[in-house]
Amino acid sequence: MGSDTRWHIIYVVIFSFLLNFVHGLQSYDPESLDALLHGYTNNTLSNHPTGTLYKVSLPSNFSGMDVSVVMLRSGSFWARGTNFSVFRIPQRVIPMPYVKRLAIVYDNLGNWSSRYYQLPGYSFVAPVVGFVGYDATNVSSLGKGKLTFRIMGDPISIDYTRIMLQDYNVAFKCVTFSDDGSVEFQNMTMPNECTTTGSGHFSVVIPSPKTPKEDERLWKWWVIGVVAGFVALVLLVLLGITTYKLVRRKKLRNMETESDKGLAFDTMYIGRSKMPYASMTRTQPAIEHEYVP
Ligand SMILES: *[C@@H]1O[C@H](CO)[C@@H](O)[C@H](O)[C@H]1NC(C)=O
Ligand SMILES: *[C@@H]1O[C@H](CO)[C@@H](O)[C@H](O)[C@H]1NC(C)=O
Ligand SMILES: *[C@@H]1O[C@H](CO)[C@@H](O)[C@H](O)[C@H]1NC(C)=O
Ligand SMILES: *[C@@H]1O[C@H](CO)[C@@H](O)[C@H](O)[C@H]1NC(C)=O
Ligand SMILES: *[C@@H]1O[C@H](CO)[C@@H](O)[C@H](O)[C@H]1NC(C)=O
Repeated sequence: MGSDTRWHIIYVVIFSFLLNFVHGLQSYDPESLDALLHGYTNNTLSNHPTGTLYKVSLPSNFSGMDVSVVMLRSGSFWARGTNFSVFRIPQRVIPMPYVKRLAIVYDNLGNWSSRYYQLPGYSFVAPVVGFVGYDATNVSSLGKGKLTFRIMGDPISIDYTRIMLQDYNVAFKCVTFSDDGSVEFQNMTMPNECTTTGSGHFSVVIPSPKTPKEDERLWKWWVIGVVAGFVALVLLVLLGITTYKLVRRKKLRNMETESDKGLAFDTMYIGRSKMPYASMTRTQPAIEHEYVP
């Protein structure tokens, strides 16, 4: 029974490893990126003046991404709003829950955009940009949870003028990736401008025609599928073999206990009738013992 459980655990581990492997090829997790950027921002927060935007230095394996942070007092944030990065947050926006001071972390994922966010059937014509608010009441560290924003006046606007590809003759769509994982499309409110009523990640897309690149990607998936299928087959065969071995071992064990019982019976029988019994070598010493006076 212990051996059964052990094999069961091994198969579960192998299978979840495979699933993670396939998932890892597909995309990176935006949630974990947020946590990571939060960490880098937090570690470089102290001794920066309120109201000034400064760049967060990321390790070289994130080059191509752009992250910056600003600390603001809630009072002035409410009264004046902010205009940093591509986001214009108007006045009369309330961070929730109430905090004395907040930090807004802006990111531009640059060439990493399509690694973290995929939209089948669409192409990005701007990098994915985002912002998130944290409690910065303690000037030397960020609060753990994200703040949400309640809009009492105008919505927050995103100006894509300087970061958007312009040579397209198709209808642009604003896209919003909310922190809860939902995706929402909207029309542009003004040329090169989208709006939002909360934090999250944003971009501009156009419907994508099927390109050779996509065929290539499909082909890649086909290869991955074949490899995964092969591995699954090998696993199935392994599973079959071990199951067979287990069943056989169990059967052998049953036979052994059966013959043990039989042996005991024979010995008792021989003991009672004092008959010589030579068919089984294992009982021989006992017989010899009985017949040697
Ligand atoms: C993005 O570009 C930088 C160089 O500008 C490069 O080092 C990095 O590997 C690129 N990232 C991706 C995901 O292609
Ligand atoms: C926000 O800042 C940009 C430049 O950083 C400027 O072009 C734009 O007019 C500003 N918008 C407002 C509403 O202040
Ligand atoms: C602020 O954070 C620092 C570092 O995490 C900590 O040592 C300090 O006690 C905190 N101050 C307050 C008022 O929470
Ligand atoms: C932020 O960094 C400080 C040390 O600089 C650390 O004590 C604190 O736990 C960090 N906070 C979070 C939410 O990671
Ligand atoms: C968005 O724009 C398209 C044309 O560009 C129009 O047909 C559609 O009705 C618009 N949607 C909304 C919700 O305004």
